[in-house]
Amino acid sequence: MKRVGFLTSGGDCQSLNATMRGVAKTLYQKYPEIEVYGILDGYKGLIYGNYRMLQLSDFSGILTIGGTILGTSRQPFKLMEEPDENGLDKVKAMIDHYYEWELDCLVVLGGNGTHKTANLLKEKGLNVVTLPKTIDNDIWGTDMTFGFQSAVNLATAAIDCIHTTAASHGRVFIVEVMGHKVGWLTLHAGIAGGADIILIPEIPYDIDSVVKTIQRRTDMGKRFSILAVAEGAISKHDAKLSKKELKKKLKDNPHPSVSYKIGAEIEEKTGQEVRITVPGHTQRGGIPSAYDRVISSRLGAAAAELIIQRQFGYMVAIRNNDVVPVPLGDVAGRLKMVDPNSEIIRQAKSMGIGFGNDE
Ligand code: F6P
Repeated sequence: MKRVGFLTSGGDCQSLNATMRGVAKTLYQKYPEIEVYGILDGYKGLIYGNYRMLQLSDFSGILTIGGTILGTSRQPFKLMEEPDENGLDKVKAMIDHYYEWELDCLVVLGGNGTHKTANLLKEKGLNVVTLPKTIDNDIWGTDMTFGFQSAVNLATAAIDCIHTTAASHGRVFIVEVMGHKVGWLTLHAGIAGGADIILIPEIPYDIDSVVKTIQRRTDMGKRFSILAVAEGAISKHDAKLSKKELKKKLKDNPHPSVSYKIGAEIEEKTGQEVRITVPGHTQRGGIPSAYDRVISSRLGAAAAELIIQRQFGYMVAIRNNDVVPVPLGDVAGRLKMVDPNSEIIRQAKSMGIGFGNDE
């Protein structure tokens, strides 16, 4: 094992550097002379040949630093096999650079789209090992992704702050949490922050049910209600539309996001004042949580162990608290969604949390 390339791809998160540190420290223990190519800005660097050589010292002091020392970018998988604006064959360019740089392995940190491309490169014969990154926690095959718990902490802190002001003013507050396709972050932050209503894409909501939960709280003498709403939350009506119809509807939508639509409907139906808070990308920023630093270190070390054993074509995953390899072909193209019938949803409902579908 002489030379490995690292790349971070897709939306960033707090624990990317901590994870690369885990891989690098373990590799350098075994191979002090190993050469590490830091490929810049995700697959873009692999396509266009941009990298910088990294030393062991580059991985010191980065455990607590959010973002990625390599930079990242979104290179949609669906466009990977299409030539770029200058006619460049991107997949071929990536393969050519891998061989030109004489890499023994490519270490890829990323989410769902990243895993589809990683699997494609594996199928083309490259040695690839991947690590599951995303604040969304939606990668199939792993119980937990690194970045998720840090984001849960931040989204929860946002809801905590809203609690005091909501209570003072007696208003309805909506906190819009990241997650277009899945509701893990909203669900966990919503429960941790004591939200009264949680709306996630996996459980399409009925606005009348949302309003009933708010009315019930008002009737109980509660001065405020807090909703944790995933950015991808969808109404029962919209969930029945075809992709094309939904796209058109969203295009014509006067509201900047689903929370504003829900807020306007609540104001109209209850007469209560509504305020919206969108923490947005703050949820991906700052320092990684202690939990994330631990799983990043473990996943990083486990990925390095796979490389040392020359076991390629796997993502390292957390399953029942163990770190296990999962074949890339199993991961690519599959989403891990919240099961509406799962225990966590049932328990949240039994505490009285509304999901917009239960009254
Ligand atoms: O995948 C992580 C994520 O933060 C999602 O929760 C969010 O929908 C999306 O990325 C935002 O993407 P971008 O940073 O490209 O705006």
